[in-house]
Amino acid sequence: MSKTSLLYQRQLLQYLADGNFYSGQWLAEQLGISRTAVANYLKELKQHGLEIFSVKGRGYKLAYAIQLLDANKINSLQLAAGAQILVQHITDSTNSQLLQRLQAGHKMLPGSVIVAEAQSAGRGRRGRSWYSPFGANLYFSCYWRLEQGVPAAMGLSLVVGLAVCRLLQSQYQLEAKVKWPNDIYVNDKKIAGILVELSGQADAGCDVVIGIGLNIGMPDQSRQHIDQPYTDLRTETLQQVDRNSLVAELQRQLICALQEFAAAGFAPFASEFNQRDVFMNRKVSLMAKSSIIGICRGVDTQGGIIIDSGKSTDVYYGGELSLRSGE
Ligand code: BTN
Repeated sequence: MSKTSLLYQRQLLQYLADGNFYSGQWLAEQLGISRTAVANYLKELKQHGLEIFSVKGRGYKLAYAIQLLDANKINSLQLAAGAQILVQHITDSTNSQLLQRLQAGHKMLPGSVIVAEAQSAGRGRRGRSWYSPFGANLYFSCYWRLEQGVPAAMGLSLVVGLAVCRLLQSQYQLEAKVKWPNDIYVNDKKIAGILVELSGQADAGCDVVIGIGLNIGMPDQSRQHIDQPYTDLRTETLQQVDRNSLVAELQRQLICALQEFAAAGFAPFASEFNQRDVFMNRKVSLMAKSSIIGICRGVDTQGGIIIDSGKSTDVYYGGELSLRSGE
């Protein structure tokens, strides 16, 4: 996107963010551009999932008021001293952006974060895409250094899930649960997903990119893009969410949990994970090399999932877990 588009889109959004009507003529005058240009910039944002209406005689209006991400506001909260926060308008994927920076040799402090208003190629686990409409949710990626090397990555990704649960509990009093390995559920619906990617040498230590997609206010038409039950913070809390303090608080909670993990490994987190496990003692199926069916008994001290098949109790370190229908 050109710098000019970015600038005008941000300026238009400064007005529209409050959720009130603004006429095309008035907006055009404020920005010193034509009404057609206003229409085109807003059309582009609509294509990126922003819910915006135009009503003849009244002008443009967002479906809901939104709070734009603001690097100064986030940084001023100074919850994680030193680590940077970079805010992007529209990007392909915040995870890809961090990975590219690492591959290009950029030096970053662990805990540094990139967030974006929208992702045009947001990525989920197992090669799936992650629907990332403009201004609606949180698309957050954090750089971390895993000194224990690749084998610790499983435990790390579970710890990230717990950090998100702690955030939802402390900030919004939500009873957040984890679905192994690291989906976050509220009221039996997915509210956040985590994609952990490793970069560089897999020997002693490695660089890690931790991507978190947290639903805040999914647009009404999102259902056609998402193939599983989901929820968002607006639905669960009936509150207006301050996205800037959410970013700062998420970064803080995450760094705190990751430091705890670096010092002591996954074992101290295992019982919290099991208390929050949405499938605990329920009949599940794990799609790994083959399909394993049994009762979920939580995780072991390494973060592997324990499944009781009736004949034996075994631990697995990979695969896709789902609830057996009707259980
Ligand atoms: C999943 O549940 O499948 C994981 C979803 C992870 C989505 C986040 S959004 C921020 C970061 N950038 C991406 O492209 N993906 C992650």
